[in-house]
Amino acid sequence: MAFTLTLYANHSIYIAIIMKLATKIIHAGAEPDPSTGAIMTPIYQTSTYVQEAPGKNKGYEYARSQNPTRFALEAALAAIEDGKYGLSFGSGVAATDAVVRLLQPGDEVIASNDMYGGTYRLFSKVYEKFGIKFHYVNMQDASNLHNYLNENTKLVWIETPTNPLMNITDIEAIANITREKKIMLCVDNTFASPYLQNPLNLGADIVMHSATKYLGGHSDVIHGCLMLNDTALRDQLYFIQKSCGAVPGPQDCFLVLRGIKTLHVRMQRHCENGEVVAHFLRNHPKVERVYWCGFEDHPNYDIAKKQMRGFGGMMSFTLNDDSAENITRVLSSTKVFALAESLGGIESLINHPATMTHASIPREERLKNGLSDALIRLSVGIEDAEDLVEDLRQAIG
Ligand SMILES: Cc1ncc(COP(=O)(O)O)c(C=O)c1O
Repeated sequence: MAFTLTLYANHSIYIAIIMKLATKIIHAGAEPDPSTGAIMTPIYQTSTYVQEAPGKNKGYEYARSQNPTRFALEAALAAIEDGKYGLSFGSGVAATDAVVRLLQPGDEVIASNDMYGGTYRLFSKVYEKFGIKFHYVNMQDASNLHNYLNENTKLVWIETPTNPLMNITDIEAIANITREKKIMLCVDNTFASPYLQNPLNLGADIVMHSATKYLGGHSDVIHGCLMLNDTALRDQLYFIQKSCGAVPGPQDCFLVLRGIKTLHVRMQRHCENGEVVAHFLRNHPKVERVYWCGFEDHPNYDIAKKQMRGFGGMMSFTLNDDSAENITRVLSSTKVFALAESLGGIESLINHPATMTHASIPREERLKNGLSDALIRLSVGIEDAEDLVEDLRQAIG
């Protein structure tokens, strides 16, 4: 048994270090089950483990702290972000919450002014009252950070591309500043996925994902994760994971583990379809503006090109007729794009950020940062691109 476990561990390390992304995505963390040889990680649906004598066990004591299905997923998560450690949580928001729990009253955070509404809600409605101060800053120019840095700054939180305006932040430029000042940098990499961008390699300390999205990929699970390299930081976050208890169940871990295995083929198609849909919208006479980071005239296209391997299937747009009636009509007329929150699944979704995903951001704050009531967001899925274009054509009218 000891020999087998060593063999598995070596295999895993070999995959994580030597292999290219597509191979890692399929094999990382996927060891044959030691008890049967099952090629797919079993769902260890158990709350506890039988011990031989007090303190004498197989390394598993209680499932909030240890679960083999979760450990397999965490190994895979680490490998696909080129990190040493992965930690998974019951949702993306729970993963974000764990990072903020590293802070103390009086600490300050600098966060993107354009980001997922639920992250803003967590920061402003839950943590401000514990004495943590948040500054929401336009991070399209990394030097803007300097205006908000002080000795209390402990965390910089960025999303790139941002949800929903597809703004791009230069991760390496931000990391150069935070590293020098010994401030932690966490990047929400949900929109890009590890297929397109690896923030740890660009200097970030922690990568966060809502695995609900591209990692799970099938709109059938809520899940979140953190990936990182620093052992002391991993130990602190593991302590928070088990002490605060926002752990995922083994069934959900299995679903994310399975989703990850097709990430590269799904993402390739998301990128191809995204490009077709973005250009269709841009050439449509009734469309006013399209927000997609793959356009050469996107303000930070050069940075996107430098740090991403493709531009993905997320985009937003506005219409010339931006009356509430017209927007509601378009949002209610698509037949392939489903009107729903969330993103990153195989099926295409259409969403109205102002009233759906970003409703928790006060209207004035949203408008100040360019998120208008007229914005429509698309998560372009992996259906036939022609069908997607036809669907938008008939809905826009
Ligand atoms: C960019 C981004 N980060 C974080 C989250 C939160 O993740 P979850 O819904 O899994 O809690 C979301 C959810 O939409 C998101 O879009």
